[in-house]
Amino acid sequence: MLTKVHTGLEPVAGTWWHPAHKAEKVWVGIAFAWCLVLFAMMPLWHWKGGQNPSGIRTRVDPRAFYARTTEFVKQYKVGDDKGFPIVQPPAGADVYLTAMTYQWYPILQLQRNVTYRLHLSALDFNHGFSLYPLNVNFQIIPGYDYALEVTPTAAGDFRIICNEFCGIGHHTMVGRVIVLDESGNKVSDRNDVTLRVGGTP
Ligand code: CUA
Repeated sequence: MLTKVHTGLEPVAGTWWHPAHKAEKVWVGIAFAWCLVLFAMMPLWHWKGGQNPSGIRTRVDPRAFYARTTEFVKQYKVGDDKGFPIVQPPAGADVYLTAMTYQWYPILQLQRNVTYRLHLSALDFNHGFSLYPLNVNFQIIPGYDYALEVTPTAAGDFRIICNEFCGIGHHTMVGRVIVLDESGNKVSDRNDVTLRVGGTP
C-alpha cells in the first residue's frame, strides 16, 4: 500500500536537482552552445550577411527635414510628372526624400554609377522604404535622418513602395526613382538591378 503521496505542496527532501541528470547537463550544454552561435550571428550578419547597413541616424525635426527637402527640390528641379517635381541632383550631392501620408516627395532622377548621399525621413508617421524590385527594407521614422550612401548600378524607372502600414492610403504610397545611364538616357536594364548601399557617408 502506498503510504506517502507526493502532492507538490510539500517540498521534496534534499536538493532535488542534485545531482543533475546526464540528459539535463547535455541539454544545458546544447542550449548554451546555441546561444553562443546566435550571439555570434548578430555581428556576423551585420558585416557579412548583406544586411541593411546601419547608416547614420541623427535626430532631426520633421518639419526642418521637410523644409530641407523643399529647398533641395527648388535647387535641382528639372521637370515634373503631373505636377509632381522631378529632381536631378549632381554627383555626390545630398539627396533628400521625405515620406509622408501617402507619398514619397519628390521624384528622384539619378545617374547610373554615381554616388549620392541619400537622406530619408518621414514627416508624420512611420513608413517603410522598399525599392522595388530590390531587397531593401528601411524603416523611415519621423525625427530621424537616415543617411545612406547609394550608387545606382542599373538604369531604369523604379518604384518605391511603402512597406509599413501607415494608414488608409498605405497601399497607394508609391514613389518613383529614375536612373539614367551615362549618356543621360532612360534605358532600362532592370534585369540586372542592384544598388550598392552602405559605408559611412
Ligand atoms: Cu507609408 Cu505605408
